[in-house]
Amino acid sequence: MIMRLLMCPPVYYGIEYEINPWMSRAHQIDHRLAQEQWRRLYRLLQDDLEFEISLAEPRPGLPDMVFTANAGVVWDNQFIASNFRHEVRRGEVPAFENWFRVRGYEVCYLPNDHFFEGEGDLLLCGDLLFAGYHIRSDILSHQKVAEILEREVLSLELASDWFYHLDTCFCPLDKARAIFYPPAFDAYALKVLENHIETLLPVTEAEARRFACNAIVANQKVVMNDGCTEIRARLESLGFTVYETPLSEFIKAGGSAKCLVLKVPHNQEPH
Ligand code: ARG
Repeated sequence: MIMRLLMCPPVYYGIEYEINPWMSRAHQIDHRLAQEQWRRLYRLLQDDLEFEISLAEPRPGLPDMVFTANAGVVWDNQFIASNFRHEVRRGEVPAFENWFRVRGYEVCYLPNDHFFEGEGDLLLCGDLLFAGYHIRSDILSHQKVAEILEREVLSLELASDWFYHLDTCFCPLDKARAIFYPPAFDAYALKVLENHIETLLPVTEAEARRFACNAIVANQKVVMNDGCTEIRARLESLGFTVYETPLSEFIKAGGSAKCLVLKVPHNQEPH
């Protein structure tokens, strides 16, 4: 089945505020290079991984809108909108809500005081949903998401400000395997991961900091930022094809390949 991804061109992308340790207004992006890197990722996903890509229209004043993984979560015909912890990202919500509404999705909301940052903090590994909390999303939001999706959600406490979303330190490969960066989790979260996932492949600190875990995976193919040679070799030895693509300009905002896409399975409605 062809899988669809939602992306948003980096037209208004930049470092205009600092809401994670990667971001520094003094360390600006090269705008042209960012556009080039984003286009390269887009083409790779479309041509080599055969994803269908839909676009959200970028809006001025929303520099992080390019990180569509944080828009919310799509499940069948439902779109659960995010509740951003930081005010500066809340303006993205109506734009994404509208994108899904006009395409026939049922838009679901969480209580205002339950922060939740979409697929950045909610990942499916096989049949199991894992959700990160503490730094961006609240654990209370996991309960609500579980109720809406009518599925169990396993909560994982994140322990490092550098790895503030689950998708910065955990990447499911298939139903039995995932890559992860152990120091990003608290002790109990590590136990939960070990108890539920057969094979956990740790990445080194250097590669975690190159966002090795922030990879896009489909049909034994993995797309990640460049320079992650150790995990690349390990993945290749397991039969995965790894595509490296430079994403330096997005790491300046604390994101990489996986943050730049949102999975959007086709719904039943005409659009
Ligand atoms: N600057 C953005 C933020 O701090 C980066 C978001 C990265 N997204 C992700 N899914 N990890 O919110």
